[in-house]
Amino acid sequence: MKRRDFITVMGTAAVVAPVVGTLASCASNPKTFVGHEFPELGFGFDELEPHIDAMTMEIHYNKHHKGYFKKFMAAAEGTELLDTPMEVIFANISKHSPSVRNNGGGFYNHALFWENLTPSQGQIPAKLNEVLVKDFDSIENFKEKFNITAKTHFGSGWAWLSVNPEGKLFVSSTANQDNPLMDVISEKGTPLLGLDVWEHAYYLNYQNQRGSYVENFWNVVNWDIVAKRLHLALG
Ligand SMILES: [Fe+2]
Repeated sequence: MKRRDFITVMGTAAVVAPVVGTLASCASNPKTFVGHEFPELGFGFDELEPHIDAMTMEIHYNKHHKGYFKKFMAAAEGTELLDTPMEVIFANISKHSPSVRNNGGGFYNHALFWENLTPSQGQIPAKLNEVLVKDFDSIENFKEKFNITAKTHFGSGWAWLSVNPEGKLFVSSTANQDNPLMDVISEKGTPLLGLDVWEHAYYLNYQNQRGSYVENFWNVVNWDIVAKRLHLALG
C-alpha cells in the first residue's frame, strides 16, 4: 500500500460543540464522520513492523474494522444516524441499539486508532509535553499509568488518554467497543490516544503477552495527531 498523509483528525468534538469537516477541506476542523466513510490507512500494513506485524494490521483493518463499519452502516440504514456525527450518536448511545453501540464504537475507535499510529515517529510536541507533565507530573508517569491501565484491563477493550470537559487529561479504559464519548461511560472526555487491547490486535505476534504489545506501542505513537486532537478539543 502506498503511503499517504493523514487527512483526518477525529474524536475532538464531543466535549465541546460538535464540529463538522475534514482536514482536507479545513485544517482546523476535525473529522466527525458525517457520511460515515471507511477511512484509508495512512501507511502500509508492514510499515509498523516489528512493533505491529503486517498480517495483524491487514486482518485488523480489512476484516475486523471493515466488519464493524459494515454492520454499523446496516444498523444505520434508513435512519437519521446516517446524517448524525458519531460524537453526537455516542453522546446519546444509551438510546440506541446494542448493534449501534458495538459496531459504531468499533468503526470509530479503530479509525481513531489508525490515526494514532505512524511508522515515522517524531518528538512529543512542546505544548502536549507541557500538558502531560502538568497533569501526570512526568511523561514517564503518564506512560506508566497508561501501561498499567492497558495491561490490566480485563478482557477486550481499549485504553485511552482523554481530555475532560475541564481541560484536564486522564487515563481510563473501556470495555468492548465503548469509548469515553459515550453517555454510558462514567469517565467522559474526548479521546486523544487510544490503544486496542482486544486479542485480535496483538495475538498473532505477541500471543498472550499483552504487556509486550503495550510497551512496543510507544514506538509507533503519532504524537503530532495526539497534539492536534488536544488543540482542537481545547478550542
Ligand atoms: Fe481491534
